[in-house]
Amino acid sequence: EKIHNIVFKESNEASKIVAREIADLIEHKQSKKENCILGLATGSSPIRVYEELVRLHKEEGLSFKNVITFNLDEYYPMEKENEQSYHYFMHDHLFNHIDILPENIYIPRGDLKPDEILDFCIDYEKKIKNHGGLDFQLLGIGRTGHIGFNEPGSHNNSRTRLITLDYLTRTDAASDFLGLEKVPKRAITMGIGTVKEAKRIVLLAWGDNKASIIQETIEGTVSSQVPATYLQNHKNTTFILDEGAASML
Ligand code: GLP
Repeated sequence: EKIHNIVFKESNEASKIVAREIADLIEHKQSKKENCILGLATGSSPIRVYEELVRLHKEEGLSFKNVITFNLDEYYPMEKENEQSYHYFMHDHLFNHIDILPENIYIPRGDLKPDEILDFCIDYEKKIKNHGGLDFQLLGIGRTGHIGFNEPGSHNNSRTRLITLDYLTRTDAASDFLGLEKVPKRAITMGIGTVKEAKRIVLLAWGDNKASIIQETIEGTVSSQVPATYLQNHKNTTFILDEGAASML
């Protein structure tokens, strides 16, 4: 197989190891007086990683002063203040508890007017590039094989853009929104091309319900039908799995 994967007994232990890798990278960059550019993800999978980063900040003095973050995606339309927004999620799980500078936080905006979206997306790409690109990209995976919100059909070279969410993705999100009809139909997401330019990628997947998509992603043919398979062609990607997610490999 082409993707390097590591299987852990349980996700807590795995999350701590991922957080440690991120902390080491931040500190390494600090020692060189450089910024550390992180691509961050939402969903349930990275929550424990963020918890551990907060702990490292509070108990071991890890500073985020040199950290610049770019989130993968945001629902559209979506207000920042809405508890279902990824803006809210990131502040609630990470940014409100660390010393990152507010001006160093970038998250796609769900509150743009339709005619502002294209310029916003072009500018998002430009900002990532101007900071020298992503040093590290954290990913989860959706059951459609999406990374970020790059649903089936997403091109290998796709960039930050407005997309339409798959029905399966919306049903998976329905419980967060208290009903399928309340789940937004669209989202703004970094593209596959954006993600694949990261120097290092770590994808997290926990539990049996991810086993089948993890198998397709790691062992299947590279195809836009399962966008996560594009990671097979990235030089420095590791899949961090628990036994459930790895059970079909
Ligand atoms: C959403 C996010 C993805 C995430 C996926 C899986 O669709 N946009 O970035 O990977 O959910 O979520 P979870 O980690 O909760 O399984």
